[in-house]
Amino acid sequence: MWPARLSMWPLAAGDIEDIARLYGDAEVTQYLAGGVRTRELARAWLDEQLAFWHKHHRIGRFRVADGTTRAFVGQCGVRDLDDSGEIELGYAFVPAAWGRGIATEAARAALDLTFRNSDLDHIAGITFPENLPSKKVLINCGLRYVREDHFYGIDVSYFSISRREWQAMVSAA
Ligand SMILES: CC(C)(COP(=O)(O)OP(=O)(O)OC[C@H]1O[C@@H](n2cnc3c(N)ncnc32)[C@H](O)[C@@H]1OP(=O)(O)O)[C@@H](O)C(=O)NCCC(=O)NCCS
Repeated sequence: MWPARLSMWPLAAGDIEDIARLYGDAEVTQYLAGGVRTRELARAWLDEQLAFWHKHHRIGRFRVADGTTRAFVGQCGVRDLDDSGEIELGYAFVPAAWGRGIATEAARAALDLTFRNSDLDHIAGITFPENLPSKKVLINCGLRYVREDHFYGIDVSYFSISRREWQAMVSAA
């Protein structure tokens, strides 16, 4: 399941330049709550992901890089879904990497690792209803559309995959 053409490592404090550039890009943040982020907001976001790794040890968000050049292409993995008590899969990639199946490949690897390294019974995924590429990545990973919902103060489409559904998908592949 680990993607051969990608390299994925837990996000670290030293990733701030890449993360600030990613979240400073208007194209990347078009469908993200709050739009373009300042470096301070990007650092606050990164700090949240590091705290999540610290709390859960074996699950969280990854730095995703090209497996050959090691160039940063984006981030992917899980975090708390607002204050719901659920865990959500999320991702953002640099526009130069879009449309090559990289997001799908990285998200599947992150899901696999998250189910293996936790006892979660399901993992959620949310997107702006109009973010069709993101919805497609969730569906490519086996998540099912469940309902329109409201998280982080915004209206979103809510998707989910259970551990059983994930295991059935992996064993059928
Ligand atoms: C969402 C995002 C990660 C998708 O990245 P990507 O590299 O293009 O994803 P993939 O190549 O793995 O797959 C994208 C799928 O969406 C489809 N797609 C792309 N643009 C589309 C569009 N406008 N309408 C419908 N489907 C579209 C592709 O055809 C592909 O489907 P396929 O697997 O059946 O061929 C990327 O656009 C991104 O980083 N966006 C900014 C951050 C963001 O919005 N994150 C999600 C927050 S919820």
